[in-house]
Amino acid sequence: MHHHSHDNIDWDTRLRQLRDEDGLTAPQMRRIAETLVSGPDTCHSVIDVGSGAGGAAAAFAAALPGGTVTLVDSAPELLAEAERHATEHAARGVEVRGVRADAADEELGAAVGSADLVFSSLVVHHLPDQLAGLRRLAELVRPGGKLVIVESGLWAHVLPWDVGVGEPGLEERLLAARYSWFRRMRAEMPGTVRLPVGWSTALRQAGLGDVESWSYLVDWPAPVTGPVRDIVLRRLEWLREAAVEECSADDLAALDQLLDEQGPHYAGRRDDLYYLAAHSVFVGRKPAL
Ligand SMILES: C[S@@+](CC[C@H](N)C(=O)[O-])C[C@H]1O[C@@H](n2cnc3c(N)ncnc32)[C@H](O)[C@@H]1O
Repeated sequence: MHHHSHDNIDWDTRLRQLRDEDGLTAPQMRRIAETLVSGPDTCHSVIDVGSGAGGAAAAFAAALPGGTVTLVDSAPELLAEAERHATEHAARGVEVRGVRADAADEELGAAVGSADLVFSSLVVHHLPDQLAGLRRLAELVRPGGKLVIVESGLWAHVLPWDVGVGEPGLEERLLAARYSWFRRMRAEMPGTVRLPVGWSTALRQAGLGDVESWSYLVDWPAPVTGPVRDIVLRRLEWLREAAVEECSADDLAALDQLLDEQGPHYAGRRDDLYYLAAHSVFVGRKPAL
């Protein structure tokens, strides 16, 4: 069943993809969770808004010295699966709970309560009014606590520049098609509002202080094998969704050759596929009372 989301994406069907991506960044996510919950002011509660497959929530549930992790998502099946996953990884004394809610809803605070740390990864850009979304997330932060968002710094690359079929530079053109899909996704959202500033500035505009950010690489060098290879191949299928509408017939034909398991150019047999991306983390602090 398709549940309403502002971006018209049926997130419940994306569990496998989101779980795979959690696997790619699990070591970094563990370190981020440990860094964020430690420090001078002890953190006892985390709210993860748009928790996806639950990888981040699981990392927080494992890192907390006790307390609560609340997962919030609008996709009910995804939420149930993420809650199960985070519960499995929770340290002793950490309670995990899931709340189905829309991050764009004015009543978000009433539905989920507040926490020392509010985390939201790759979600705000799916909301019609991103600055209003950040303000709502900031409302969930207790005075003196932190709002942390992850937004993609650089999209993943997985292919060599010349793959031997079609014209060189295929992946750049496939990514350009995907960017154009993204622009349309945002433009077609009812009530869409542009956010004409970077994320650090946006966090300050949402009332947060001491804003800092850093990026980490997701770096799986060639040759990728096992689950990472599967992720790379599924990424090519994901790129194809936008390529069908946006790319030339030649580029689409080249991509189809890479995806053809029986053909001579099947990407799954290459030893030069890799996965390289950068994710950016932005942290803002809510003033103490
Ligand atoms: C791109 S995924 C990111 C998942 C996870 N945070 C991660 O970084 O892998 C977006 C997530 O936000 C959820 N989502 C999208 N729009 C939402 C909304 N308006 N309210 C709550 N959750 C939403 C989706 O169901 C999905 O779980």
